[in-house]
Amino acid sequence: MKRQLAILGSTGSIGVSTLDVVRAHPDRFHIVALTAGKQVERLANQCVEFKPLIAVVSEASDAKRLQKILLEKQLNTQVLYGPEALVSAVIDSGCDTVMAAIVGAAGLVPALAAAQAGKRVLLANKEALVMSGKLFMQAMKSGGGELLPIDSEHNAIFQCLPNDFTKNPSASSGVEELWLTASGGPFRSTPIDQLSSITPEQACAHPNWVMGRKISVDSATMMNKGLEVIEAFWLFGLPLEKIKVFIHPQSVVHSMVRYRDGSVLAQLGQPDMRTPIAYGLAWPERIDAGVEPLNLTQLANLNFFEPDFKRFPCLALAFDAAKAGGTAPAVLNAANEVAVAAFLDQGLPYLSIHQVVEQVLNRLPVQNVQSLEDVLSADTLARKLANDIIQALQ
Ligand SMILES: NC(=O)c1ccc[n+]([C@@H]2O[C@H](COP(=O)([O-])OP(=O)(O)OC[C@H]3O[C@@H](n4cnc5c(N)ncnc54)[C@H](OP(=O)(O)O)[C@@H]3O)[C@@H](O)[C@H]2O)c1
Repeated sequence: MKRQLAILGSTGSIGVSTLDVVRAHPDRFHIVALTAGKQVERLANQCVEFKPLIAVVSEASDAKRLQKILLEKQLNTQVLYGPEALVSAVIDSGCDTVMAAIVGAAGLVPALAAAQAGKRVLLANKEALVMSGKLFMQAMKSGGGELLPIDSEHNAIFQCLPNDFTKNPSASSGVEELWLTASGGPFRSTPIDQLSSITPEQACAHPNWVMGRKISVDSATMMNKGLEVIEAFWLFGLPLEKIKVFIHPQSVVHSMVRYRDGSVLAQLGQPDMRTPIAYGLAWPERIDAGVEPLNLTQLANLNFFEPDFKRFPCLALAFDAAKAGGTAPAVLNAANEVAVAAFLDQGLPYLSIHQVVEQVLNRLPVQNVQSLEDVLSADTLARKLANDIIQALQ
């Protein structure tokens, strides 16, 4: 039977790569819902090709425009808009599988809805776990669905862990440490005194991966790796001190698991997100992802270094927030989203990103997380404070 797939964030980098894999396997997957933020034309083209039951955009005016285009093409896709419509795409589309690939906090509520409803959740939206890891993992458990990590590092670790480890982590499996690799981004060896003049274009030019703008900046600051440490903590249930980060400039080893008996298992491949996407879509089978095979003889070197926390203060902030727990990771995430957006669109200097995040974390006391409201209210407070700090800086 075909998998019935909803793609949240189909117009983004992960969404487009997902559709690329789906396109190659029409016998396996049927698209029932596609959602975008603002890219109406791109979503319209996707609807014409994949004919979903539901299509969602953020704004009413864009929904009107999309509806008009689809009617002209004689498609009867239902067009919806706004945050609640993202939940409809998950619940009312009849999907059994959800690719959660909206960027940032906007992806949290529909990803949680998918978890609660017992769907197979392909989780690219790491922010959902960073903000509300405990709630999200509880929702997955009570919903009874399958959680498959799409972030390449977590997907690699998932592949290197014993079967069922995420559902039933047993001490006898001998898992000692998780080793997350990081490329180090475009400024891995840029002299620190030159970082003050970094432009958005330079920060978004990742040496190995083609990604959306926000995650590209996060990779440059290594906040992305910090968010991934928190993501790994919730996904795999190991204590924070057992999660290590290594800079690996070639991005060929996507992450590793160290075992008690001295074994280290690694997953290698091209830096192409279609591999983890295809893995999640077809799990436990494997399908062609359209990715070039890795040619080991063409790899000159595989290098690994400890990260330099002075060069990458965002990584240190993320470790601190992870240790603090409660609302701290949600605050970290919100402040970072605001600061990165200000860097990309309002001329906030690159080196101010970590300063804004640090000030917000220092000024907002850590609260316990009991409910989604706790998370969302921490998110709102942190965004407001980050905006105030940025305004004062400019
Ligand atoms: N790209 C990668 O290689 C990669 C790797 C690992 C993990 N991830 C994670 O995957 C997620 C997506 O990353 P990406 O690189 O694909 O990002 P992206 O290219 O910026 O795409 C983001 C998607 O989310 C939609 N979106 C943005 N804001 C929205 C909102 N407020 N409401 C509804 N939809 C909204 C965008 O719609 P419009 O474009 O139509 O506005 C787009 O479809 C992120 O959490 C990222 O950390 C990405």
